[in-house]
Amino acid sequence: MMNPLASNLNKQIQEESSYIYEMLSELGKQLYYPKGILTQTAEAKQKASRFNATIGIATEEGHPMYLPVLQETLSFYDPKELYDYAPPAGKPELRSIWRQKLLLENPSLKDKSIGNPIVTNALTHGLSVIADMFVDRDDPLILPDKYWGNYSMIFGVRQGARIVTYPFFTDEGKMNISDLKQTLLAQREQHKAILLLNFPNNPTGYTPDEADADEIVQTVLEAAEQGMNLIVVSDDAYFGLFYENSLSESLFARLANIHPRVLAIKVDGATKEEYVWGFRVGFLTFAAESPAVLAALEQKALGIIRGTISNASHPSQTFVLHALESPDFQTQKLEKYNILAARARKVKQVLDSGKYDDAWSYYPFNSGYFMCLKLKSVNAEQLRKHLLETYGVGVISLGETDMRVAFSCVEEKDIKELFDLIYQGAKDLT
Ligand SMILES: Cc1ncc(COP(=O)(O)O)c(C=O)c1O
Repeated sequence: MMNPLASNLNKQIQEESSYIYEMLSELGKQLYYPKGILTQTAEAKQKASRFNATIGIATEEGHPMYLPVLQETLSFYDPKELYDYAPPAGKPELRSIWRQKLLLENPSLKDKSIGNPIVTNALTHGLSVIADMFVDRDDPLILPDKYWGNYSMIFGVRQGARIVTYPFFTDEGKMNISDLKQTLLAQREQHKAILLLNFPNNPTGYTPDEADADEIVQTVLEAAEQGMNLIVVSDDAYFGLFYENSLSESLFARLANIHPRVLAIKVDGATKEEYVWGFRVGFLTFAAESPAVLAALEQKALGIIRGTISNASHPSQTFVLHALESPDFQTQKLEKYNILAARARKVKQVLDSGKYDDAWSYYPFNSGYFMCLKLKSVNAEQLRKHLLETYGVGVISLGETDMRVAFSCVEEKDIKELFDLIYQGAKDLT
């Protein structure tokens, strides 16, 4: 039997948008945020002026109990900002500053209706919340043939999504939007698809330009007009690291509110953008015309968060909030951006020397942490092992021909030597 709170949320969504209701998975339909301990605690926080004996933490003299061995290393921070639970949706100040950041960095969001970012345990968790809410067995997940491998686990293994890929690039080195369109429309009979857009892309480091972005939006619109319900997820893990003339805002901003059959969702976070990989702070943001739908989707997301991790790390949220509020934040972020941009330029310069052209070509790249070689005559995995054993060089092999190089972790001065060694390795094997 469905919980009455879940039925209410479903009704709320259905009344405003039958399409978004149809997009929910079986699990998504069952989800609700319980009026349990947390609701009562929140009420008590407002009204229990004498004794508040609701909360599931231990306190002392009005602050959370803590061990001095911990606090002495974290003394910059008020214990209240570290030890207590963060709300399941995340620290309100952090959600609000991230929302402002989204609006500032994505001008097309102006006048669009989007929800408040919900804090997740970084992007992987945000993606898994989406999989739980919207993916049933055999639902098609549309991806380019170059994608982050963990999508298979998050969507495929966990929820049974059927992964369908399209060739990412044409032979001329442009994004292959016509194959994307064909692949998407081929799923028409199912009336539902999850389209995952990841720019800057892992593994290739590609972000589309304005013209391509327009074409992607048109493609989504066309599929929606043909009666498909589309959950379009922008995985913006590497957002902001744009080095050339690509689009510099998220496609989420362009896709938000474009059609009642399109549910745009943004997954992003501090992980790569603010260089805090281990902190595990990410965000999940929905776009829908109706505030009631946004509210109901948030409740459902909170339900699955409460039922899995309960809430994300409070200290991590506090650290990220502190950084975002700091007057030095933008300057320091720009410094790191400049380092990565210089490396990306150096990689292009080294590759464009012509010196390696008999061994590989490379896929288009203009953003992010990575670039990807396409080997001409050696097997990628064989070369990877050889490089590791003979030259002490570590790279990632992907399939038969592709080799991912993370210039995010190679100093600019070492880039030429790195590619010289990869080239030497390839020569050894031919
Ligand atoms: C495209 C993409 N999305 C998501 C993630 C996961 O990010 P997080 O560490 O925030 O879970 C990664 C990390 O490698 C990634 O490359």
